[in-house]
Amino acid sequence: MTTEPLAGAALSIRDLTVGYGGGPVLHGVNVDLSPGEVVALLGANGAGKTTLLGALTGRVPVTSGALSLDGKDLRGMRTEDRARLGLALVPDGQSVVGELTVDENLRLGALWRHRGPAREQAIQRIYEMFEPLDRRKLADGHQLSGGERQMLALGRALIAEPRLIALDEPSLGLAPLVVAQIMRTLRETARERGLTVLLAEQNVTGALSIADRGIVLNLGKVVVDADAATLAEDSALRHAYLGF
Ligand SMILES: Nc1ncnc2c1ncn2[C@@H]1O[C@H](COP(=O)(O)OP(=O)(O)O)[C@@H](O)[C@H]1O
Ligand SMILES: [Mg+2]
Repeated sequence: MTTEPLAGAALSIRDLTVGYGGGPVLHGVNVDLSPGEVVALLGANGAGKTTLLGALTGRVPVTSGALSLDGKDLRGMRTEDRARLGLALVPDGQSVVGELTVDENLRLGALWRHRGPAREQAIQRIYEMFEPLDRRKLADGHQLSGGERQMLALGRALIAEPRLIALDEPSLGLAPLVVAQIMRTLRETARERGLTVLLAEQNVTGALSIADRGIVLNLGKVVVDADAATLAEDSALRHAYLGF
């Protein structure tokens, strides 16, 4: 299988309403991501960040509105077809398989994307990106620290060479140094590959430090959509929606 050159995908979410059966959780959400843009998706616990990512991957059904990646309608599309289009999700909690080694987990991520020497090169690139994983190649997933597990989850998503990666609170529960490394790697990968990133975070400072733009969800609605630097400096906005 050949790997075409990477370029970020554009995401368009129009007037999206989504719920779990007991009434809507997201109300008329509009979000646009340009290719290569890094966007922080912010908001308190329960604001709807995970639900929005679920609508992207197809785990949460769309009630009304539109959702497209590079102009391709995602509604009704199977999760694996969305992945083939270049959409990757790093869920909160564990997508790492505890019974498999670090190396096996990475191979799993590379399975449908790369073959033969290209696969070995792709795996090697992830080890270069995350040195702690290189040292833990043969450790089982369940032996890893929280930080190592998050790096592996991210590495496993990146190895499939997505065009848009959505991450659900990757910094949750991790030490500041590990968070910094993960954020830096994301930023660098986005720059080098033109990858589009949607980063759901409660760690506002960390997320805004690498984002181009920040979107704040409050009770299932977009209440702020602004340049990251503006958002980081606007203390009234931060007080109103982000609690600091
Ligand atoms: N599986 C579910 N079934 C019903 N309601 C849910 C489910 N998951 C989340 N919710 C509700 O949707 C709202 C948004 O939750 P969520 O998207 O998890 O927010 P966040 O990720 O920003 O913390 C909350 O009110 C939550 O209780
Ligand atoms: Mg969440």
